[in-house]
Amino acid sequence: MTEKKYVLAIDQGTTSSRAILFDHSGDIVSLGQREHRQIFPKAGWVEHDPVEIWQNVRACVADALQKAETNRHEIAAVGITNQRETVVVWDKNTGEPVYNAIVWQDTRTSKIIRDLAGDEGMSKYRDICGLDLSVYYSGPEITWILDNVEGAREKAEAGDLLFGNTDCWVLWNLTGGVNGGVHKTDVTNASRTMLMDIRTLQWREDVCADFGIPMSMLPEICSSSEIYGYGRKNGLLVDTPIAGILGDQQAATFGQACFEKGMVKNTYGTGCFVIMNTGEEPVFSRNGLLTTVCYKIGDNKPVYALEGSIAVAGSLVQWIRDNLGLISDSKEIETLARTVDDNGGVYFVPAFSGLFAPYWKDDARGAIVGLTRYNTKAHIARAVEESTAFQSREVFDAMVADSGVDLKELRVDGGMTNDELLMQFQADQVGVPIVRPKVMETTALGAAYAAGIAVGFWDGEQDVIDNWSEGKRWEPAGDKDEVERQYRLWKKAVTRTFDWVD
Ligand code: G3P
Repeated sequence: MTEKKYVLAIDQGTTSSRAILFDHSGDIVSLGQREHRQIFPKAGWVEHDPVEIWQNVRACVADALQKAETNRHEIAAVGITNQRETVVVWDKNTGEPVYNAIVWQDTRTSKIIRDLAGDEGMSKYRDICGLDLSVYYSGPEITWILDNVEGAREKAEAGDLLFGNTDCWVLWNLTGGVNGGVHKTDVTNASRTMLMDIRTLQWREDVCADFGIPMSMLPEICSSSEIYGYGRKNGLLVDTPIAGILGDQQAATFGQACFEKGMVKNTYGTGCFVIMNTGEEPVFSRNGLLTTVCYKIGDNKPVYALEGSIAVAGSLVQWIRDNLGLISDSKEIETLARTVDDNGGVYFVPAFSGLFAPYWKDDARGAIVGLTRYNTKAHIARAVEESTAFQSREVFDAMVADSGVDLKELRVDGGMTNDELLMQFQADQVGVPIVRPKVMETTALGAAYAAGIAVGFWDGEQDVIDNWSEGKRWEPAGDKDEVERQYRLWKKAVTRTFDWVD
């Protein structure tokens, strides 16, 4: 038998899909990446084409294998990680989606969540699923599809439609699609639907009934590390075990080796997601954070987390590039911001999807405040950079308040951590060292570890800890009074975005 040298991770993200081959040391061997279209049919709506996503995933896998001059015989297992909450509903007989994927940033379900809340309010389901009603989660998006796509509800009730987040969509297709595709997901993804009981880790019949979602649509909930199925015949990964699934932010937490209670990571991607490991019992926030499953390895007990989700971070830089044309490449944001010494009084609150943690206001909308004629596009670039750091500080502070412990450091990853200006500003704002690992692809790596552990390629969490090493560190500097003055102004700017939608 050929020696198994690698684990393949598929990272189906919000802006692109990637396939990355890792070796036993957790180092990257090769990478394939494809962006997909962002579809904005109306203000506040965001969609993806699930068929395009699946085609891209296949192409990325082919690219990664080809670049490494390898094939499935050398691959021990495949892990999947994904943009969470985004909803795909498809016909299990034809394999065709009944509607585009509704993306986690989409705000169309405002009315649905208000109707569900009724007199009991947005926290009606918090004790069951760890989440307050929000446009962010999958449940209301499934309801929207069943209510608005012609014939969907009838088909769903007849048992012909399947729901999945993009992990589940990719898994179903990878394992055969209409020819026996496996309809499963993991606990971390299920914990973002609002339909799963956060303690029993099972779908809740009563909640599904409230949302009007037939349970036959829902995938089987599995752990994050076990064999779900094998690559389909005629595919590049035929007979290869698909053995790890983690929502992307939980995968990054795993890849960052945040295994001890109280360890925190922040991933700077399309949005920013701060996650703190809270151990084997769910902790409920009093400060605007959500409760989620962090990971569950095989039959082990689940590990929970508190999360602060920020909808807009890297996507604001893209918006500045694509919609305003202030820069032509995302990397230029730092260069432009560095041409001025400070933000010139400008604050940019990117409430494009309303505001997520810690405010949870779906009727907020973005604002640039503090403008005078003195300001240039460089001040706006600076305000763009700073908005990511201010938003991250808000959820970091909420975590300190919830946990009652002073956090010692913040582990970071994601593309924006290449931005030195942002990272230093972030360290100044949170007041603790920021640490980035050598291998920055922690999201894909986390999914690879989950898969590799399931098949014995790695022994367990100790291997992840041993492979993790520090790449770069930023110490807090800057004048404390000035840091706090800016943060105060940021908070004031945030209040200007509230209650904007009629
Ligand atoms: O909850 C949404 C999150 O999973 C999206 O992550 O990295 O695709 O922006 P990303």
